[in-house]
Amino acid sequence: MGLILRGGIIVTAAECYQADIRIEDEIIADIGSQVARPEDTVIPAEGCYIIPGGIDAHTHFDLPVGTISTADDFASGTRAAILGGTTTIIDYATQFKGETLQQGLTNWHRRAAGKCFADYGFHMAITDWNEQVSRELPWLSQEAGVTSVKLYMAYKHSLQVDDSALFQVLERARDCGILTCVHCENGDIVDNMIRRFRNQGKTTPRYHPLSRPSQVEQEAVNRLSVLADMTKAPVVVVHVSCREAMETVAQAKVRGVRIFAETCPQYLVLDDSVYQGSGFAGAKYVMSPPLRPRENQDYLWDGLRSGILDTVATDHCSFNFKGQKELGKEDFSKIPNGAPGVEHRLGLLYTYGVKTGKISLKQFVDKVAARPAKLFGLYPKKGTITPGSDADLVIWDERRQFTISAATQAHNVDYSPYEGMKQQGQAIHVFLRGRQVVKNGRVCTKTPQGQFLLRKPFF
Ligand code: URP
Ligand code: ZN
Ligand code: ZN
Repeated sequence: MGLILRGGIIVTAAECYQADIRIEDEIIADIGSQVARPEDTVIPAEGCYIIPGGIDAHTHFDLPVGTISTADDFASGTRAAILGGTTTIIDYATQFKGETLQQGLTNWHRRAAGKCFADYGFHMAITDWNEQVSRELPWLSQEAGVTSVKLYMAYKHSLQVDDSALFQVLERARDCGILTCVHCENGDIVDNMIRRFRNQGKTTPRYHPLSRPSQVEQEAVNRLSVLADMTKAPVVVVHVSCREAMETVAQAKVRGVRIFAETCPQYLVLDDSVYQGSGFAGAKYVMSPPLRPRENQDYLWDGLRSGILDTVATDHCSFNFKGQKELGKEDFSKIPNGAPGVEHRLGLLYTYGVKTGKISLKQFVDKVAARPAKLFGLYPKKGTITPGSDADLVIWDERRQFTISAATQAHNVDYSPYEGMKQQGQAIHVFLRGRQVVKNGRVCTKTPQGQFLLRKPFF
């Protein structure tokens, strides 16, 4: 017995057309006008779009930071994800100092196992590069199914790696079919600027963006792109926030560097006015890179349209305002960095991108599903709608609208950076490998059914 999604407009990165979809055994079995069999169950989708389940390739669930952990774990984070139409997440597993990659990865498997409402994969953040770790990389990509690593050029004294490690990882990762994702900010300069502000008694959140100006991001993107060119290694610049960083990516792309770029909804729809004033409310928006002056938004939208920016992920990294962000009340540099967003990625991009004509429907699907699937070794199992692909499908009703609020969100966190913003369109029905997990805009499963995904290498 199969499931039929009837009469919707199917949107992929390449096409937009009306047809029925037949699902059987977790897979898209058939697409057409006469695909139903008598025993099938029919779900009407007339007047709606049917898009591939979203892939958010940048989350931090259950991430320990100092003495605390993120507010969302894998259960609440992936529950929020499916509600928003995201059926796959790729989270940043982290090798902490002194650990092997295997220990780091085992730790993340333990955090996620049995809790995920979406399918999930891991990138591996390397914070302690050495010979032993170098020897683990073939195992990571060929056996553990983790075909991307992450390096931080910022967060001095904790996650940051130096240029020597960066250079060596790029060479080794390239040879192992591993894509290197990089947080691009010059951590040494940021560290200097933070200390300067602190010494001047400038300790409120408004100094967070001032300690991380766009040039520190631009410089790091430039350094990375030169090293990527030298090593011929494929790289992804994560969370591009500003014009300068994006233009540096564009120049490298023109030179033929294998460089890809991600931006996030917060940089497309929010701006640095939120840090104004001498109070602590700006702590909600303390993330790195910080929000930028409004004029950057048009450049980022242009970058999505032109292809300079490949994907949109959230960098979901949630901390409660009460008790967690408040740890930095006396010193902005102690505010845990990050903000929630996994639930609203598709809605924000659709409302402020597609509905305003800044990007097309097909580009929307490309940025939230197809490109991340292709980059991160999941295509065509995920990221498209074609016979043989996983039946990760979202029935998107653009007539639905609501206002985003902490009071009604599924994120397990006490505020929303998007409080009061309108969302046009909603994932009303969501299917994960053919099983309905969201019905009429509500999660309809109590059992987490997400599976770990072994991803293909990047060559
Ligand atoms: O502020 C942020 N982005 N926090 C999460 C960690 C990271 O830098 O990706
Ligand atoms: Zn980062
Ligand atoms: Zn991140």
